[in-house]
Amino acid sequence: MKQILVTGGCGFIGSNFIRYQLSEYPDISVTNLDKLTYAGNLENLKEYESHSGYTFVKGDITDADFVNALFNSNDFDAVINFAAESHVDRSILDSSPFIHTNIVGTQVLLDAARSRNIGRYVQVSTDEVYGSLGPEGLFTETTPIAPNSPYSASKASADLLVRSYIKTFDFPAIITRCSNNYGPYQFPEKLIPLFISNAQEDKSLPIYGEGTNVRDWIHVIDHCRGIDAALRKGETGQVYNFGGNAEMQNIEITRLLLSILGKPESLIKYVTDRPGHDLRYAIDCSKAEAELGWKPETKFDTGLKDTVQWYLDNPEWVNRIRSGQYMKYYDQQYGNRLNS
Ligand code: NAD
Ligand code: DAU
Repeated sequence: MKQILVTGGCGFIGSNFIRYQLSEYPDISVTNLDKLTYAGNLENLKEYESHSGYTFVKGDITDADFVNALFNSNDFDAVINFAAESHVDRSILDSSPFIHTNIVGTQVLLDAARSRNIGRYVQVSTDEVYGSLGPEGLFTETTPIAPNSPYSASKASADLLVRSYIKTFDFPAIITRCSNNYGPYQFPEKLIPLFISNAQEDKSLPIYGEGTNVRDWIHVIDHCRGIDAALRKGETGQVYNFGGNAEMQNIEITRLLLSILGKPESLIKYVTDRPGHDLRYAIDCSKAEAELGWKPETKFDTGLKDTVQWYLDNPEWVNRIRSGQYMKYYDQQYGNRLNS
């Protein structure tokens, strides 16, 4: 594999994936196509700006003319589609960009890749397409799709489109579905980086509902290793789940963060629940372990401490985000809840 197209490479997971590719495969050439939405940050790959194996292209995956021209002027061996609107709460406020980017954007990429006979297409999807679990059980690759938020419905729709291209056109695609990622460069609207930043500033940590919702946390590098394994060793038409074997209630994780940061639990503030809030996600990743030789390696305790340290060591990165556009969204999302 010599030349790959990564979409959404200026976001959290995409930038970690590009860094991983460039460090693991010295001869690889990576083109990063990103629209630079509020979540896309060129700073995430600053150290690679002049790297000979890295090219950044600003563009929108929903723009078919632009995407086709990019495919025509390159010879990609594979496409890895990370580009998406990714935050559930935003999808509840306005689902339009989610439908457009996550569904139409995927269709545009599929058509462009198909017309150029690209040998491998990886759709980076999420465990949220499976809906919500009760207290027991795990999502497997055969769990029926049952999304509960506009975000997860848009990701599920994209997965179904990919599936249809596999069945109808023999298109060489793979779908990966991962649980909640944490690690460096995560946009501070998601639970862990938001709570680290708020706690540092002695601001409230807004826990939705009773804080008993459960997520299975995986370090972003383990997810990137999984996508890499699917890209290189996966079988066309297959779905692979990735998870971290680290189920935690939101309140547990919050207490852990406060104790790592040496901040008081009085910062915890219970707020109105997220509408349609999925109770529990937990992943069975035995298929990826058996067929891709992959397993999560980062222990949650160590990974979380390292992540907190990364945020403490990179205050400028956080501050630039928290001072701009993001704060307008923050007020819209939390203004009334924290004042009530
Ligand atoms: P993110 O929001 O941090 O990054 C998304 C990136 O996509 C940004 O750089 C943004 O500029 C870009 N983008 C958005 N719309 C675009 C468009 N129309 N054209 C081109 N680029 C566009 O997201 P993330 O957390 O890094 O997630 C990446 C992918 O992984 C998403 O597809 C998400 O659904 C999936 N995923 C995320 C998690 C998680 O825990 N964060 C878990 C499983 C799967
Ligand atoms: O499971 C994979 C998914 O994980 C990805 O597909 C999504 O892109 C990613 O955003 C993430 O979705 P979640 O909704 O689980 O992540 P979030 O960080 O928004 O929330 C994690 C949990 O914390 C969830 O139960 C809601 C809760 N929460 C979140 C925020 C932002 C709070 O209690 N308070 C908050 O302020």
